[in-house]
Amino acid sequence: MRRAVCPGSFDPIHNGHLEVIARAAGLFDEVIVGVSTNYAKKYRFSLDERIDMAKETLASLQGIIVEPVGEGLLAEYCRRRGVSAIVKGLRSSSDFDYELPMATMNRQLTGVETVFLPAEGHYVHLSSTLIKEVFTLGGNVSEFVPRSVLKRLHSGEPVREQVRRG
Ligand code: PNS
Repeated sequence: MRRAVCPGSFDPIHNGHLEVIARAAGLFDEVIVGVSTNYAKKYRFSLDERIDMAKETLASLQGIIVEPVGEGLLAEYCRRRGVSAIVKGLRSSSDFDYELPMATMNRQLTGVETVFLPAEGHYVHLSSTLIKEVFTLGGNVSEFVPRSVLKRLHSGEPVREQVRRG
């Protein structure tokens, strides 16, 4: 049984993530969507919310499970869970430059391999950070996120200050 993990903060999960996860599911028997918390980062959504959004979105897909990866090294998590590969989507050469040292380090730590999937053209510009910024500034992000995420973005929307004119 070949098990892979797609790790990330997923704050929130978006259509670019989903495309990579679905392709990973075609390559492995089981794919874990591993939701991580990096304490250096400021999140819009709590860990539970990030997990719920991923679960709601992926519920109908076979062979995919969503769980927290917990604290500590991803490589150690992979060893504990019998994960043979970390799957990452690559949008650009700067993604590759950022990911390569981590992939090499993870393999040296516990032997876990990293598989890179080139992002599909339609999603190559997507990031959770950009989506949150566009949404916060009043842009329409419905093309970029699943329905469950859109709902939560709207339900957590701060009341906009009224701008007086004239
Ligand atoms: O979506 P993100 O926040 O970019 O995800 C980054 C993530 C979770 C993949 C990365 O921060 C990670 O691998 N964290 C686990 C901690 C770890 O193992 N660090 C050493 C990397 S060699």
